Amino acid sequence: MTNQTIDKRMERVLYSQDEIASRVAALGAQITHDYTHNGYSRDPQGRPLKLVCVLRGAMVFLADLIRQISTDVEYDFIYVSSYGNGTSPGAVRLVKDLDLPIYQRDVLIVEDIIDTGHTLDYLRRGFAVRDPASIRVCTLVDKRVRREVPVEIDYSGFVMDKNEFIVGYGMDYGELYRNLPYIATLKPEYIR
Ligand code: PRP
Repeated sequence: MTNQTIDKRMERVLYSQDEIASRVAALGAQITHDYTHNGYSRDPQGRPLKLVCVLRGAMVFLADLIRQISTDVEYDFIYVSSYGNGTSPGAVRLVKDLDLPIYQRDVLIVEDIIDTGHTLDYLRRGFAVRDPASIRVCTLVDKRVRREVPVEIDYSGFVMDKNEFIVGYGMDYGELYRNLPYIATLKPEYIR
């Protein structure tokens, strides 16, 4: 049991450090099993699964997840951002592309949270034209109550049915709170 001190700016812890660790371990075990025994590996050259971390929020999840996967993996980073200016809702901007090709590779997109689905939809379309061997998706949190475009998710740690704004474990509000080891809601007075 982890002894957690809760930041006073938090209203409620939704997922504790222990709960997250337990879900991440289960996801890692399932991914290991699927790519070693369930035929998910389609790479004609048998190369390791390539995890694609969507910056910046998913970095914390990726770091824990890879250490729960007990088959060879590689990872790469992509950085996308929503325009968020209200003029083009759902529009996504590529800030930094992958460093390496994914042609004929098994790709697992790693997200901290899937909300409207626009980011994942953009990534899937962009990756599909690069002709990978397979594309699957792993998110720690599936906030499906907010979905605007249908997206397929293969692995999810937690499903949120309430529309609450959450921070911690990589997720921010104004770039703060990413370092909290748990996921929580913010007290209203800290939301501007
Ligand atoms: C978050 C998250 C996803 C995206 C999901 O990133 O990491 O990439 O939002 O939202 P969507 O389903 O509505 O598209 P964010 O834009 O907060 O950037 P960050 O990862 O740098 O914090």
